[in-house]
Amino acid sequence: MLEWNQKLSVGVESIDLQHRYLLDLINRLSIELEGHDSAYQARLIDELGSYARQHFTAEENFMYKLGYPGLEDHCKIHQDLLEKLHGQIGLYLMDMLDAEEIVKYVSAWAVRHVLTDDKKFGEFATKAKS
Ligand SMILES: [Fe+2]
Repeated sequence: MLEWNQKLSVGVESIDLQHRYLLDLINRLSIELEGHDSAYQARLIDELGSYARQHFTAEENFMYKLGYPGLEDHCKIHQDLLEKLHGQIGLYLMDMLDAEEIVKYVSAWAVRHVLTDDKKFGEFATKAKS
């Protein structure tokens, strides 16, 4: 189980709330994937992908308004994840990858991304405020 804690805070409340939701969603999916048919599993994975996309857009708009110089690189990182996820969903639909593997991958990616890339714009936002 992934638990949000202060170490994952980027110092921006609205973004932290979205990250908490994302981690909760990942936890819920890890539980619910088990023992369900593939149509439901596919919808759960779709829920994760859709939320990730929405969250990335919100984050990118936040960075844009902030005048964050790393915006372009950050967008590229988001885009790469979405493409990777798209590929994984394709493999899942061809029965070549378990849905659990997708959630595990996104989960590890998300924590790493928050702790590195997201923290960077968080620090920039905190400095800009003071
Ligand atoms: Fe991000």
